[in-house]
Amino acid sequence: MVEPDGLICSSAALVDGGNGVRFTVRGAEGAAIPAFAIRHAHQVHAYVNRCAHRGVELDWDAGRFFDLERRYVICATHGALYDPATGACRGGPCGGGLVKLEVIEKNDGVYLVPTGLHR
Ligand code: FES
Repeated sequence: MVEPDGLICSSAALVDGGNGVRFTVRGAEGAAIPAFAIRHAHQVHAYVNRCAHRGVELDWDAGRFFDLERRYVICATHGALYDPATGACRGGPCGGGLVKLEVIEKNDGVYLVPTGLHR
């Protein structure tokens, strides 16, 4: 779960094109929703960890969200490709985009913006 101050992880935990950091957010009815943060092209992005195709988490190996070229976020189940910066479908059986979470990076940390759950 995200820390009360919104801290997801340290900035250093997110290497550009490297493994992501998994965390959870609270949904509207209090349920824990899996999410992840990544760094791509030096920018941090975060999404609900739910493929738009079948609703499963994207990473089989925890934290591995990028394809081999580290160009797209990939779903390990059937290979749907998503734009790392927007969550938009870029190939495969997406059927839609990822749900983006608003995050900011400050003071060497990555923070969830409290009302940031949006598509
Ligand atoms: S469940 Fe993700 S591509 Fe099918």
